Amino acid sequence: MEIRGRVLSVASECVPLIKTGGLADVVGALPAALAGQGWQMRVLIPAYRRLRDRLDAMDEVWREPNLWGGEGVVYAGVIDGLDMLLLDAPHLFDREGGPYSGPGGDWWDNAQRFAALSWVAARMARAGFDGWKPDVLHAHDWQAGFAPAYLAYHGSGGVGSVLTIHNIAFQGWAPAAQIDDLRLPREAFHPGALEYFGGLCSLKAGMVTADRITTVSPTYAAELLRPEFGMGLEGVIRARAADVSGILNGVDIAVWSPEAEPMPYSAKKMTGKAAARAALCVEFGVQVAGPLAIVVSRLTDQKGIDLLPQVVPDFVAAGGGVIILGSGDPALEAAMRGLEARFPGRVAVRIGYDEALSHRLFSGADAVLVPSRFEPCGLTQMYGLRYGTLPVVAAVGGLADTVIHASPAALRAGVATGVTFHPTDAVAFGQALRQLCALHADAKTWARVQANAMAADVGWQASAAAYAALYDGLVR
Ligand code: ADP
Ligand code: GLC
Repeated sequence: MEIRGRVLSVASECVPLIKTGGLADVVGALPAALAGQGWQMRVLIPAYRRLRDRLDAMDEVWREPNLWGGEGVVYAGVIDGLDMLLLDAPHLFDREGGPYSGPGGDWWDNAQRFAALSWVAARMARAGFDGWKPDVLHAHDWQAGFAPAYLAYHGSGGVGSVLTIHNIAFQGWAPAAQIDDLRLPREAFHPGALEYFGGLCSLKAGMVTADRITTVSPTYAAELLRPEFGMGLEGVIRARAADVSGILNGVDIAVWSPEAEPMPYSAKKMTGKAAARAALCVEFGVQVAGPLAIVVSRLTDQKGIDLLPQVVPDFVAAGGGVIILGSGDPALEAAMRGLEARFPGRVAVRIGYDEALSHRLFSGADAVLVPSRFEPCGLTQMYGLRYGTLPVVAAVGGLADTVIHASPAALRAGVATGVTFHPTDAVAFGQALRQLCALHADAKTWARVQANAMAADVGWQASAAAYAALYDGLVR
């Protein structure tokens, strides 16, 4: 295929190397999706401690002498088919723990750590490297928010920039006194540019300087104009409205495929799903005549996990059961364990992160619950659609854009794919679970909705075309 252009993608996470959430899935999926559109993409992330043993097999392509207290070296190599660039700066990234926090909480120098990532991305994009010069720099979330700003304030070299907001709740705040240290111009310290409630904010810096802003669903793009979703940045979104678009994430349909599971099934032949359900019930010691629901999620306030203790008792009384896989807020973890203790044989909880188990859960369950307060896109409801594991979701953000509620009209028209509810509270959620039970009791309708769900297009094709069109508009 003819090459339409080149993109340097910069982020803090990328599957299969490092993941704390859906950001990593999306950053890891975009290169293959865009290759199909003629756009070549390389991905730059930090070489965290657990990635450093990969560097031996890679080639040095960039050296940055003065990177906030030490040198940075960028290595290039193909990892699992991805054209990866790893920024090795041991003084910033060779640390115990996750990408953003160590044993004692968030790293004190996160602003500098990710400014360094953004600085290197902007410099490499501007100059080109390794015989390769990008047309576009694509920055993801607050961690890469300074990258478009460095292009804007230190020279773009003809490179266009895109900022994708995966979650506006994480904004990357730094004190105003760090403006010189963060290599940003003092003249730009005013509310129309870098200043944010008296400080600095890397996400805002990206939002005011990037040529285009995207977020990961059309509904979230619209929601961001409102204070309850914009979280302080709604005015910035409004000022840039002409350059903002919502492009829905896809999922990797080769990885998330019921045909490829150990007990394979398809919309035409669902026996494998029944076997997977039976195996799941044995694995978790649950017995459920009604719908068997799952939750696969970070356990946080965003995800509405605190509502489960309010709705699960009635759901169990109506014949339902729930298996929960997740980790996060200790209070929520304890609340989930409490549910398990209260409803043995009906509720089971696994605290932790387990990719293989999540596949078994989507294969065997009847429904997946996603009661988020806000959800920029969300991936698990789309896995649910693929697997005929009906999504029960709050009608916000990408959840609203991907699930068609089983209303009487949608059922009559034969287009329903799940159950949606609004607002995100225990009353509406409980009502949705009652509807799920009724739907499950009507085998013929259930099978119909399952078939619709499994036929839904959740792949990357359409979204990749939208990104390619956006990039096309930035080629100089
Ligand atoms: P977010 O990025 O806000 O956490 P998404 O739905 O976009 O939400 O992405 C979450 C991703 O992480 C999905 O791929 C989901 O399957 C996965 N995930 C979340 N928690 C777990 C877990 N405990 N075990 C396995 N996978 C998980
Ligand atoms: C964020 C959002 C989630 C989205 C993901 C990938 O983590 O919380 O809704 O699916 O990014 O874009």
